[in-house]
Amino acid sequence: MLELLDKNKLPKHIAIIMDGNGRWAKERGKDRLYGHQHGVLSVRDVVEGCAEIGIQYLTLYAFSTENWNRPENEVNALMELLVSTIRKEAETLQKNGVRLNVIGDIDTLPKQCIEELHEAIEMTSQNTRLNLVLALSYSAKWEILQACKKIANDVKNDTLHLDQINDNTFKQYLTTVNIPDPELLIRTSGEYRISNFLLYQIAYAELYFTNTHWPDFRKENLVEALLNYQNRERRFGKISEQLK
Ligand code: FPP
Repeated sequence: MLELLDKNKLPKHIAIIMDGNGRWAKERGKDRLYGHQHGVLSVRDVVEGCAEIGIQYLTLYAFSTENWNRPENEVNALMELLVSTIRKEAETLQKNGVRLNVIGDIDTLPKQCIEELHEAIEMTSQNTRLNLVLALSYSAKWEILQACKKIANDVKNDTLHLDQINDNTFKQYLTTVNIPDPELLIRTSGEYRISNFLLYQIAYAELYFTNTHWPDFRKENLVEALLNYQNRERRFGKISEQLK
């Protein structure tokens, strides 16, 4: 299936809202953690797929600001899963040229989680094949508000002038600084929502929704999403004839 892809029409950046772990587990009479554990296998497969296909940036919505409101045992289990996954997979990321990064209010994560992440980020910092960005304790409203506060502060301190605030300068204050905007946003599990993810950055992203639950999502599903993306006409406000 990979050979069906047009290598000249690949998105640089794919963002994914990984949804449906809980429902996937419930359908099997298992607890939600079982779904998250299987979700990790999908993360593995999709990261590998992106590296093979030649995608430069992959951002995964792994834990939202709102996810802190889930039952305490699920939050703890997710944090433990995150720590153990990073620990287990860091070496593989390194071997495969994957650079790890995180966006979000990272200071709110458990100490052990922060340490594990820092270690893996540091270890993989020279890699250039694929940038894997984990959105953790992330929400777009939080991100935009913290950007506004920093901008207000810089204006107050005279290090930024009002006239200098434009799309490019604003982006410097977002957590995704230096990361190109995603051209393709995928959400699994049949929900048609953005759920506070990358609101500023997806202004012109193509949206792709699939009923597949995240633990069933594999490279083949990624290729399917990419084929769908490659068949779309991206007009950016222009008309068809202007694109030719
Ligand atoms: C959404 O499914 C999934 C999450 C909130 C957690 C995603 C986490 C993982 C896939 C594992 C850890 C990730 C990494 C990067 C190591 P849901 O629980 O909302 O499912 P539901 O809507 O069916 O209840």
